[in-house]
Amino acid sequence: MSQQNSPQKNFPKNQSLPGEHPKEKHDHETIRFPQGFLWGAATSAHQVEGNNTSNDWWEWEQKHQPFDLRSGQACDQYNRYESDFELIKSLNHNSHRLSVEWSRIEPLEGEFDQAEIDHYIKVLKKLKELNITVMLTLWHFTLPKWVADKGGWENGKTVEYFVRFVKKIVPEIADFVDLWVTLNEPGVYIYETYIDRAWPHAKKSWLGQVKTFLNLTSAHKKAYKYLHSLFPAGKPVGIANNILSFESYHKHSFKEQITVSLNDLLANHLFYFFTRGTHDFLGINYYFHIRFKGKRWTPQKSEIGGQIHDVSDLGWEIYPEGIFEVLTDFADDIPIYITECGIASTNDDRRNRFLISYLQEVARAIKAGVNVRGFFYWSLIDNFEWHLGFEPRFGLVEIDYKTQQRHIRPSALVYTDIIQNNGIPHSLLRFLGHTVQAEEVLEKREKEMEKKQEEISNFNNIEIANKS
Ligand code: BGC
Repeated sequence: MSQQNSPQKNFPKNQSLPGEHPKEKHDHETIRFPQGFLWGAATSAHQVEGNNTSNDWWEWEQKHQPFDLRSGQACDQYNRYESDFELIKSLNHNSHRLSVEWSRIEPLEGEFDQAEIDHYIKVLKKLKELNITVMLTLWHFTLPKWVADKGGWENGKTVEYFVRFVKKIVPEIADFVDLWVTLNEPGVYIYETYIDRAWPHAKKSWLGQVKTFLNLTSAHKKAYKYLHSLFPAGKPVGIANNILSFESYHKHSFKEQITVSLNDLLANHLFYFFTRGTHDFLGINYYFHIRFKGKRWTPQKSEIGGQIHDVSDLGWEIYPEGIFEVLTDFADDIPIYITECGIASTNDDRRNRFLISYLQEVARAIKAGVNVRGFFYWSLIDNFEWHLGFEPRFGLVEIDYKTQQRHIRPSALVYTDIIQNNGIPHSLLRFLGHTVQAEEVLEKREKEMEKKQEEISNFNNIEIANKS
């Protein structure tokens, strides 16, 4: 088309052509978060401390897991907490989520170890000296061996044992704790024990599941009541719950929609429903987006139009929009903390993208009116990922397990940039939009899993042979 005939010619300058979108003004502004927002990372005792020899996990690891899948020294944070916390400070985190290990404090029934209590006082005091807001979890998956031997959470008495432990430890450490999390992910605990059966006490038992569920609800309610009687005016109490984003593959499929609703009810809402009225905040751990297709769910390879979605090293789909969906779904009068959200990846570029894209969605939810008060990345350091051992790398800080050296990953500094700006500076958006490598990652993962499975069954066969 010649210049003369071009439709452009008859249009005044700067005016857009019919059908053409007017140029959007490019926005270079930082995506801001509310003032006082908590920025931190999360860990749990058994995953980082090392040598938690008195709990059920330790015992199970020695019996059922090959050497490289046992927690052992873990990250040796029991001895290295001071330098780890100084690292947190240097990264500008203003808060931290961690847990106390019940089996250290009460290694034998009714016998409390004052030296271990003093240890936790020192740990928490250190965080306070650094002016870090402390969110403390009282139970994060492990039980003292003696509690497990009596039936663990299936046994109604465990509620009493737990409350006795809470009543012992809380007054000792209360000065150094700002927010309490009574329980971590009751649903995941039940799923891994009774459905996936990959964790200690694994068994098939509907009754066991129901009892565990009810006892955990009762443990939370009692601990909540006690904590409230101590601090009527403050120190909010909640739980950290794994909340999944569910979707049906076909929007028109009634069956799939029903599956979505049922799973949403059971996995996301049931515990809150049974414990309603006993949450000062909602703690949301967000990791999963699951599409239901026909009878199947497709948690890993989510194929849409032949394209596989990006996944983490664990094959978990990367789906930032999901965090927006769960946040808006849970929006209530009660504040929300994202108590965990993170990616297992040895490719730190992916962690950068993950952080920025997920936090963009959190900001969008806040803009839409959701009262989100803080974000705890999982995890501060690489650590012991339960039955999967040390291979999944979730950390902002890399651990060399041979030397226990800490190496700050570039993504940790991207997170620091966000924290210092209390928002996502426009300059960081350059990290978004890289290629999707899902297929490659999934192939590698499948091979690794096969190898692991082989190792585990070889190990168990040797054990059985030795016993017989
Ligand atoms: C748990 C952590 C775990 C993380 C990553 C959460 O379910 O609270 O203990 O390491 O997810 O799998």
